[in-house]
Amino acid sequence: MRQRKLKDLDERLERFGRYRLDSAIKYKDDWQRFFYERGAGFNMDTYLEIGCGKGNFLMEHAEADPASNFIGIEYQQSVLVRALEKACSEELNNVIFIDDKVYDVRDYFGTGELAGIYLNFSDPWPKARHAKRRLTHRDYLKAYCDVVRNGGMIEFKTDNDDLFGFTLEEIESLDLQVVEFAVDLHSSEFDSRNYMTEYEAKFMSMGKQINYVKIKVERE
Ligand SMILES: C[S@@+](CC[C@H](N)C(=O)[O-])C[C@H]1O[C@@H](n2cnc3c(N)ncnc32)[C@H](O)[C@@H]1O
Repeated sequence: MRQRKLKDLDERLERFGRYRLDSAIKYKDDWQRFFYERGAGFNMDTYLEIGCGKGNFLMEHAEADPASNFIGIEYQQSVLVRALEKACSEELNNVIFIDDKVYDVRDYFGTGELAGIYLNFSDPWPKARHAKRRLTHRDYLKAYCDVVRNGGMIEFKTDNDDLFGFTLEEIESLDLQVVEFAVDLHSSEFDSRNYMTEYEAKFMSMGKQINYVKIKVERE
């Protein structure tokens, strides 16, 4: 049974493969050309979502903003395949998904190559000894600041109050500039331009408040 499931997954990954990259390292410093050759415009802003799940958030952004490029990274193939399926049915040329687990974004992107990074409902890793695995740990944040251009942004949303508190401490420890903040995103002024993720919809239906913070990246 498990073998049949895996075979089905492999077939679907191949069928929707036009939107899947299994290694992105070779495109470092070359993403503009990558998207241009797929039919997108040239000199467009590029945004990254780490842990994009089934891709709703990224696909909605890509559809609403054809003048920018969007890259999603997700290492769980059974989830990623749902994003690939959507991308194939909508045939957008400004979106791509990377089938990989991010350890250091600098492996995939050059200095200042991105306009922004989205982190939506990142895994909380609640045990203190796993704090370094949280995608908003200061080591990750430092790397994000390297690949986001001057004036670009990093956005983070979560239902998890502990992870949000931890993230704010990490932001403060690096003296990063917070430009938007809400402990209840959906009742805030930022809600009107919010795109929902799958987890967000689930937590919202459970009555959970969504925490939100946006950082502006500034270089000397
Ligand atoms: C809690 S889910 C949230 C999914 C989606 N962002 C949403 O809001 O609906 C977190 C996702 O991040 C993925 N993820 C966690 N760490 C990652 C990493 N280092 N690189 C790529 N994906 C990662 C997980 O596989 C999982 O699908």
